[in-house]
Amino acid sequence: MALLPHSLLEVATSLTSPSILALLLVALPLLYSAIRALRSPLRKIPGPPVSLFTSAVLRYHELRCHRTSYVHTLHKKYGPVVRLAPDEVSFSSAAAVKDIYNTAGSGYDKTDFYDLFTVYGRRTMFTTLDKETHARRRRILADRYANSNIMRGPALAGIEERSKHFAELCKNARGGVLVALHAYAFDCVTHHLFHPYGTDSLRNESDAEIMREVTFDDSIQNRLVSFYSPALYAVVNPVLAWFAKPRETPLADDFVLDTAAKTDAAHFTLLARMHEKQQPYPPDAKDEEDRLSKETGMSGGFDALDAAAESLDHMAAGIDTTGDALCFLMWELSMPRSLHFQERLRRELLDNAAKGADALPFDRLPFLDAVITEGLRCFPAIPMSLPRVVPDQHWGRTPRASQQQQNNGRVIDGFFLPAGTVVSSQAYSVHRMDTTVFPDPDTFNPDRWLASDGDADRKRSFFAFASGGRGCIGKHLALVEMKLLMRDVYSQFATAPEISMTPESMEMSDQLISSRPFGQRCLLQFVPLAEVSS
Ligand code: HEM
Repeated sequence: MALLPHSLLEVATSLTSPSILALLLVALPLLYSAIRALRSPLRKIPGPPVSLFTSAVLRYHELRCHRTSYVHTLHKKYGPVVRLAPDEVSFSSAAAVKDIYNTAGSGYDKTDFYDLFTVYGRRTMFTTLDKETHARRRRILADRYANSNIMRGPALAGIEERSKHFAELCKNARGGVLVALHAYAFDCVTHHLFHPYGTDSLRNESDAEIMREVTFDDSIQNRLVSFYSPALYAVVNPVLAWFAKPRETPLADDFVLDTAAKTDAAHFTLLARMHEKQQPYPPDAKDEEDRLSKETGMSGGFDALDAAAESLDHMAAGIDTTGDALCFLMWELSMPRSLHFQERLRRELLDNAAKGADALPFDRLPFLDAVITEGLRCFPAIPMSLPRVVPDQHWGRTPRASQQQQNNGRVIDGFFLPAGTVVSSQAYSVHRMDTTVFPDPDTFNPDRWLASDGDADRKRSFFAFASGGRGCIGKHLALVEMKLLMRDVYSQFATAPEISMTPESMEMSDQLISSRPFGQRCLLQFVPLAEVSS
């Protein structure tokens, strides 16, 4: 009996020893995350066991710019639903895409990941998280991106002119196409945003400098650390900045701030629309969401900084996307395996041009359309997950919602996900996982878009521009830019890869949301058609 108090004392003393304390410090969080994992509703979802406990592996792949291919590998291993992290799940089926991105029009709200893209401290249409505020702003801007607004008068003429400039450059052959295509996309989007104040970076070096600053940015690691661990960032940033630069775009900022202040932009431009809706900053706004909802809730106004932020956002959204999509597509068409498609495209373009007044307009050429759609399927410019948050029970509830849906979460593809779970789909996998819709999915085959069989399913599974009310507003602009450039290049030249290029240098390198060629260059030879046939 006398021994008991003594041993208890020993135990108590040993518990306070530094080594035991250190052990507890490690063991308790592990125990906590083990209990949390075992009780998590996500434990029933297929995925790597480690993802039940930590998001570290996913973050590692993000920092290495490999997120898309990592997630796709998991889909191939585990199927169309994969747990990526303790609170994050990826889906690849068309049904899940519909639930996440189209429910009640715009799908679920965006996650705070989009805070990374705020501009001048303002939320833009793209970075607004909640659907109501977003929808009000989108309604104001949408008409300037309507196909009917892009396909007429000076709006179209500006894009045609820039496409001709690009084809002129090809005459000098041996181009670094990646840079030139980004310049083309930059000139087209600034034309649509600001005409007559659009850029001419294909021919003017100071405009080209602005384009390079926006597009060849290497700030992904710096921005990810600042997002995932602000406390760590505060400590390590001075050192981190040596090898992972923060995003800085002073030339683009100056250009956009100056241009957005112009009051005489052409009627078809986004800027003209924002000036129509100019409105001062509401003085009683409590915070940014409140300010946005007050403004857009009244007459839909933009103050000067809003107009600049929105412009910068659309400018950035329109460069890498269209530029990279064209680059990956031209690269593919230049590969020996796809030369027969290049030849068929050329035939369609030349035969059509030969019809003179009876020629079809460029946007109604079936093979050109199939080539571009297939390019965007194989190489979607935003191949990565578009994160959304599972809403709580008060959000968009319908009378037919099941008991489980009402129980603070949603069922997607047969799995219950509690409110707050981050869910997403990535175009790269949506375009590949269902081989009944896309047989032989890794093969570039424009013909699949010409078959009438399965047409509706293919269209439903096409996610390059996302879908629903938060899908790409610039889709029609991008397609017109792509079609015109492909028409003008392939009706004059044949393309082939430069000898120094390797397939590895064209592998995907993920950035924050888009992906670019790993080698950041794409060298093609442009052979004039007269030389090809002689
Ligand atoms: C091939 C070219 C393009 C592709 C593949 C593409 C793809 C996408 C995708 C997938 C989204 C949804 C992003 C998300 O939910 O996080 C998006 C949104 C957006 N895109 Fe594009 N895009 C392209 C070209 C353009 C162009 C030329 C513009 C010009 C202004 C543009 C402006 C925008 C804007 C403003 C949004 C946000 C829309 C909103 O939140 O309502 N995009 N784009």
